[in-house]
Amino acid sequence: MANEATSERIPSIKLNHGGASMPVLGLGMAPNPPVPDEVTKIAVIDAVEVGYRHFDTATIYFTEKALGEGITEVLNRGMIQSREQLFITSKLWVSDAHPNLVLPALKTTLQNMKLEYLDLYLIHWPVSGKPCPPAYPIKKEEFLPFDLKGVWTAMEECQRLGLTKAIGVSNFTRKKLQQLMSLATVPPAVNQVEVNPTWQQKELIEFCKTKGILVTAYSPLGGPLGGHNGVMESSVLKNIAQAKGKTVAQVALRWAYEHGISIVVKSFNKDRMKQNLEIFDWELSSEDHANIRTIPQHRTCDGLDYTSPLGPIHTIEELWDGEV
Ligand SMILES: NC(=O)c1ccc[n+]([C@@H]2O[C@H](COP(=O)([O-])OP(=O)(O)OC[C@H]3O[C@@H](n4cnc5c(N)ncnc54)[C@H](OP(=O)(O)O)[C@@H]3O)[C@@H](O)[C@H]2O)c1
Repeated sequence: MANEATSERIPSIKLNHGGASMPVLGLGMAPNPPVPDEVTKIAVIDAVEVGYRHFDTATIYFTEKALGEGITEVLNRGMIQSREQLFITSKLWVSDAHPNLVLPALKTTLQNMKLEYLDLYLIHWPVSGKPCPPAYPIKKEEFLPFDLKGVWTAMEECQRLGLTKAIGVSNFTRKKLQQLMSLATVPPAVNQVEVNPTWQQKELIEFCKTKGILVTAYSPLGGPLGGHNGVMESSVLKNIAQAKGKTVAQVALRWAYEHGISIVVKSFNKDRMKQNLEIFDWELSSEDHANIRTIPQHRTCDGLDYTSPLGPIHTIEELWDGEV
């Protein structure tokens, strides 16, 4: 198994449609607030040391370069034998979501990381912005109509060229996935969306299972900590954690894992990285699941920044197609 992104500590799931095996737990590479590149690089080295093999970045996180440096370092130190033992995801930013800009954007991503290929390339959001260097948020007057067919065809070309093993999407609703599948030659292997006990996405997960699309949960702990955080503050999760001798984070991650999905969780703290891996040798009871189902639901990432009164997506209801 030396040529696959496997680790003794983390199970993997084989992706459909040409993809490799994705370790079910990956490290999120979106530090918020941003941190110096050296901190990101050290986090990558620490993560490989404790057992992570899957890293989830994006052009707009501005961590591709530091992730690449971390990868070079773990290879130089012999911590892993080859690049093939890692699973690397990155994402196409909104300003590059135009048919003729997809391939150049992926090439820049690969250059940033000094890699020859990605394991997974995702359309970050189902929206397009004016072509310009990656920036967030997008100016309200700079949104443009999204050419789903043209962009997806270019994603397929990236896969055909061997620059990414698998292609997929992020923040797609069931309706948008249906549209995509009706025009795709290669169906999406993954839909990366917010999933956590406060935004459980039961219907989307079930829909994706029937279509052979793996859901990857982002913000599994409810996103960057500091402000309001329904997951880490949940009394339901706190009670379960206390009864099981686990942490709230572990309960939230185990809950997601038991839904047969993969997860990307961000921690740049080595102890918390280790803690987040310790979810594979115990389980939640059906009573725990029933209690977690009672937690009030709301999106942490509401997507407002991807809408504009000037269109083409005016409201968050339109962005999410009214789906809950
Ligand atoms: N596709 C998309 O649109 C999208 C959107 C959002 C996120 N993502 C991806 O998903 C990844 C994860 O989501 P996220 O970063 O939003 O949030 P998250 O993983 O739910 O939470 C990260 C926060 O939790 C803290 N944390 C981690 N483990 C902990 C533990 N065991 N106990 C207490 N606190 C803990 C982290 O701080 P420390 O680092 O200090 O531990 C950080 O503040 C991102 O990094 C990114 O790769 C994708």
